Amino acid sequence: KGAFDSSSEKTFAMIKPDAYLNIGKIISMIFQAGFKINKMKMSRFTEDTAGIFYGEHKGKHFYPTLVDFVTSDVCVGLELVRENAILAWRELLGPTNTQRAKEEAPESIRAQFGSDGTRNACHGSDSPASAERELGIFFGSDSVMPSTSLQNNCTC
Ligand code: PPS
Repeated sequence: KGAFDSSSEKTFAMIKPDAYLNIGKIISMIFQAGFKINKMKMSRFTEDTAGIFYGEHKGKHFYPTLVDFVTSDVCVGLELVRENAILAWRELLGPTNTQRAKEEAPESIRAQFGSDGTRNACHGSDSPASAERELGIFFGSDSVMPSTSLQNNCTC
C-alpha cells in the first residue's frame, strides 16, 4: 500500500524544546513504526502563538509552566502519515506524564526522552479535528509559525 491511499491518516507531531537534540533517534523511531514524514519545520513559539496552539488549556493550573517551556527554545513540527496515525503516534509517545511513561511504557518516546511532567519530549494530536487544526497552525497557508534556524549552537 502506498503512503497516501485512502486508509492513510495524517497527524501532527511536535518535538519539544527538551528533545530536539534527540531528533535523530526520534525520527528513527518514527520510521521504524511505519510512518512517512510528509512535512517538517523547526520553529519557535512566542507567548501569542503558544496561546493559539494551546488555547484549550488557558486557565488550567499548568498553563503558565507549559507556555514558559514551549517558548524556551525551538520546537520541530512534523506531519506524519500512516494508517491510524493519530492513535499510533500517541501510542509511540506513551503517557503524557514522563514518570508514568517510564513505569507503564518504558520503550516509549516520553519514557526515553522526557524528564518530568512538563518536559515530556513530544506532542501528538488527540483527534482528527485537533490534527487538522494543529497541522494548519504549523503548515497551513496562513501559518503563524515561521521557520527558524538554530542560532547559538554553531561553533564553526
Ligand atoms: S488535560 O487537562 O487532561 O487536557 O491535560 P493533558 O492532556 O494531561 O495535557 C495537556 C497538555 O499540557 C501539558 N501539561 C503540562 N505542561 C507543563 N506542566 C504540567 N504540569 C503539565 N501538565 C500537562 C501536557 O504535556 C500536554 O501537552 P502536549 O503538548 O499536548 O503533550
